[in-house]
Amino acid sequence: MAVKEVIRMGHPILAQIAEPVEEFNTLWLETLIEDMFDTMAARDGAGLAAPQIAVPRRVVIFGVQRNPRYPEVEEVPTTVLINPQISVLDDTLEEDWEGCLSLPGLRGRVPRYRRIRYTGFDQNGDPLERTADGFHARVVQHEVDHLDGILYPQRMTDMRSFGYEQELFPDATISPLE
Ligand code: NI
Repeated sequence: MAVKEVIRMGHPILAQIAEPVEEFNTLWLETLIEDMFDTMAARDGAGLAAPQIAVPRRVVIFGVQRNPRYPEVEEVPTTVLINPQISVLDDTLEEDWEGCLSLPGLRGRVPRYRRIRYTGFDQNGDPLERTADGFHARVVQHEVDHLDGILYPQRMTDMRSFGYEQELFPDATISPLE
C-alpha cells in the first residue's frame, strides 16, 4: 500500500496511449490497484487512471460515496475497470464542471455524453458491463480519456470557463468534485 505521486499535465506519460492489461490475478496488478485506491483517497479524488501515477496501462478506478454533507453529489459505485470500452447510448452532450488530480487547482466546463454503456474487466479478469448516465457517465468518460492521452481541457469547447478554482469559486466552501 502506498500513496503515489500524481504526475501533472505536461508529463509525456499523460499524452500516451496506454497499453492493455494482458494478465489478471497477478501481484503486480493487485499492487497497482491498491496504490491507485490509496492515492485517490489521499487526494480526495472521484477517479484515477493508472497513467496518472506514471503507469501507462489501461486501468482506471472510480467511486463516490453518498455524503450527507454534499447531498447534491451523485453516488458512483466503487469500481476497478480494466481495458475499458465505451459506447454512447445518448449522444446528447451535457456540460458541467470537471477537475483532475493532474491539473491541481484548475476547473473547467466539459461537454460529455449523457448516457453510455461501458464494458471491461475487474481485477480478477471477470467481465463487467454497465450503463451509466449523468455524473457517473462523466467520471467514466474522463477516466477512460486518460488511457488515450486525453486531458479534459482537450474536450472543452469554451476555454473561457477554464481557470483556477479559487478564482472561479471564491465563496465556495466546497468545490465541485474532482
Ligand atoms: Ni483526471
